[in-house]
Amino acid sequence: PKIIYIEQNGERHEIDAKVGNTVMEGAIKNNVPGIDADCGGACACATCHVYVAEEWFEKVGNPSVMEESMLDFAQDVRPTSRLSCQIRITDALDGLTVELPESQH
Ligand code: FES
Repeated sequence: PKIIYIEQNGERHEIDAKVGNTVMEGAIKNNVPGIDADCGGACACATCHVYVAEEWFEKVGNPSVMEESMLDFAQDVRPTSRLSCQIRITDALDGLTVELPESQH
C-alpha cells in the first residue's frame, strides 16, 4: 500500500509500505524526514506525531487510551493528530495521507 507523507513546506513523500509495518516505520525505512520516533514505537515518546488527512481519519480509527494520554506530550495537537507508530498499515489504508508537524519537540 502507498502511504503519503506531506511536510509543512508542502513537500510530498510517497512510499510503498509493507502491510503490518506502522506508519512510523514506513517513514523511517524510506528516509522520510520529520518523524523522530525516539522510543522506537513503544507509544512512549510522542515524537512520531502526524496529522491524519481529514478523509482518512475515520478509516484509521481513534487512538487508544494510552496513545491519547501520550499525545498530550506532542506539540500543536489537532483533532486529527495520531502517533504514527500506533497506526498499522493494511491494504485498506492504500493511499493514506498524513501531514507531518512543524516539529516533534
Ligand atoms: Fe515513540 Fe511513537 S515512536 S510514541
